[in-house]
Amino acid sequence: MKKILITNASQIVTPIGLSGKPGMGMNDLTIIEDGCVLIQDGKIVKVCKSVDMDESLLLDAQVIDATGKIVLPGLIDAHTHLVFAGTREDEFSMRMAGESYISIMEKGGGIQRSIDATRLATEKQLFDLAKMRLKNMAKMGVTTVEAKSGYGGSLEDEIKQCKVARKLNDSGPISVVSTLMAAHTIVREYKSDPEKYVKLIIEEIIPRVAREKLAEFCDVFLEKSAFNYAQAERILTAAKAHGFELKIHADEISNGKGAHLAAKLNAISAEHLLFSDHQGLELMKEHHVTAVLLPLTAFSLREPYAKAREMINKGLVVALASDFNPGSCYTYSMPMLMAAACLSMHMSIEEVITALTLNAAAAINRAHKIGSIESGKDADIAIFDCPNYAHLVYHMGINQAHTVIKKGEIIVRNGEIV
Ligand code: NIG
Ligand code: FE
Repeated sequence: MKKILITNASQIVTPIGLSGKPGMGMNDLTIIEDGCVLIQDGKIVKVCKSVDMDESLLLDAQVIDATGKIVLPGLIDAHTHLVFAGTREDEFSMRMAGESYISIMEKGGGIQRSIDATRLATEKQLFDLAKMRLKNMAKMGVTTVEAKSGYGGSLEDEIKQCKVARKLNDSGPISVVSTLMAAHTIVREYKSDPEKYVKLIIEEIIPRVAREKLAEFCDVFLEKSAFNYAQAERILTAAKAHGFELKIHADEISNGKGAHLAAKLNAISAEHLLFSDHQGLELMKEHHVTAVLLPLTAFSLREPYAKAREMINKGLVVALASDFNPGSCYTYSMPMLMAAACLSMHMSIEEVITALTLNAAAAINRAHKIGSIESGKDADIAIFDCPNYAHLVYHMGINQAHTVIKKGEIIVRNGEIV
């Protein structure tokens, strides 16, 4: 029976609940000043003021003194393209010089280049690269990461990527949630006959990944020069029939009615949403589709930010994530993400915290297990070295994560991996 007591925290800061928080409810954080958290066997068992902790419960507990620090749920990065090889800094320079993401893609660059590099890499190389990234994420307070495939583009290569995600999860400590995204780009071999690739995804890749239980979610890049509305609908409908929950890269670069399709198919989430129309957002609300916003991609692509205020005012469940990938957003920086969401998308700091914890958990179907500090949930906790939660954004771009706990095990101490 392993016990940890986090005590004397200047603030425990958490949303409360077993499902995503919609709209202005995202501001309802529970703040316990001079608070403590008792963890037992990987679960949170008690949260209260330090003075109210029952001493008899503390026998044999390892004590973490959080004086002067704040305690949050472990952060959840609910949208990444974690597993890939190679980088594309030359395309970044081209974009800085005025070329667009889509024109680079249409000339054979973009996702296809990362597919080429990822196909050449061994499973072991992909695993090691992703593991290093996960460690860096953990150092910023992240305890769960969603990882999309999509740099394979063939049956074997998509399987390879999904297997790496599964191995990463199995090797711990960070939970890695796997999403099949074979429909990321029309790969070179099928450029002259995209329909053939759509058929491969529907008839071979989806059934195989389902059979081998290599992914929980299925995502499609619904965009000009990628997959159109009808293709996305067919792929996602097939995935649903095989038991996947659905996600869509929706309205990232243009309005492809992705928000509408997400609502129509009762997707768990629609992600990006930079160019979604009002009606699409209304439909998402009606169908309880979580909006996953990725402001660092908008920043990196110099696109207008998603309308976070409109979404929150409409009552949507809004989550935030990094979108870490080698093309449109080569960062998984949590401090930068929090600052961009707050300063450029006008979310309140409270909303940002909910969006990166409980609502991010909702986007990956785990709000009943993680995303808040309350008894019964997994003890996934991030302790930041600052006196109050305003510092998470006020001390802009600075990593203040100090101690990180995953399922009751300390994985980062004093800012370093244990
Ligand atoms: O979310 N849009 C599709 N996927 C990624 C970009 C992938 C890449 O450029 O390699 C995104 O922006
Ligand atoms: Fe993405």
